[in-house]
Amino acid sequence: MKEKLSVAGLRHAKVEGRKLSMVTAYDHPSAVIADQSPIDIILVGDSLSNNVLGYEGTGPVTMEEMLHHLRAVTRGAHHTFVVGDLPLGSYHVSPEQAMANAIQYIKAGADCVKLEGGVAFADTVHALVRAGIPVMGHIGLMPQMLAPSAWRVRGKDAASARQILEDASALEQAGACAMVLEAVPASLAARVTGRVSASTFGIGAGPHCDGQVLIWHDLLGLHDFRPRHNKLYANLAAVIGTALGQYHQEVLAGAFPAAEHSYTMRSEELELAMRAVEDDKPLE
Ligand code: KIV
Repeated sequence: MKEKLSVAGLRHAKVEGRKLSMVTAYDHPSAVIADQSPIDIILVGDSLSNNVLGYEGTGPVTMEEMLHHLRAVTRGAHHTFVVGDLPLGSYHVSPEQAMANAIQYIKAGADCVKLEGGVAFADTVHALVRAGIPVMGHIGLMPQMLAPSAWRVRGKDAASARQILEDASALEQAGACAMVLEAVPASLAARVTGRVSASTFGIGAGPHCDGQVLIWHDLLGLHDFRPRHNKLYANLAAVIGTALGQYHQEVLAGAFPAAEHSYTMRSEELELAMRAVEDDKPLE
């Protein structure tokens, strides 16, 4: 069984140049599968919103919904570092609001909380870290405020690249232990990774980050969304579709259930019950 990662372990991995893997998971069975795999980190992402709950984008998901799924994940992930993503509106009002919600995540079993933002949320990150709550930042493309049609690469020109470099430094100075770099050029992500002591996790940020993060449904092919940054490691939607089609056909043909899927009883017991019902008499 793998050894559970810690905040100190994140740092050691970076110093030793050991890459880390992170994947999103949103429910108990997925958490159990990830927990039994060598994956280092499970992220209960706010992408719960669009990947599982059917909302448009990540903005609509609520604290209540996130907590419900976070608890299901932590009940299944005993050997894996779990990061809980704070949704839109759960940390924007004030550091106090962030603190109250982050504490709910820690009570629900999260090892770390994640929030989108760099310079703009450095004070909030600092307050959480000072209270002993590990924080993962998220910079580059920050989808919470955006419609999916606006999910595009960030940091391609000098001005936006500079902003990302400054966001990364602000997160580091505020004490974040890690940060997600989403949809940024690989060369910029390499520079960010080289400048900060916090671990960087890329999604669409090239191979030079300290680790990578992918979305459960993307990498396993559970839906039709095929972003450029993803690699399809399995096509489970096709596997599930074939299985459901076969089940349907076998029900229609009477081939399912077979004898091995059915329960038996002694025929005398059945006859006794039938007679009692037909005669409307109590069983002897
Ligand atoms: O919510 C999420 O799944 C994320 C990933 C894109 C890193 O934040």
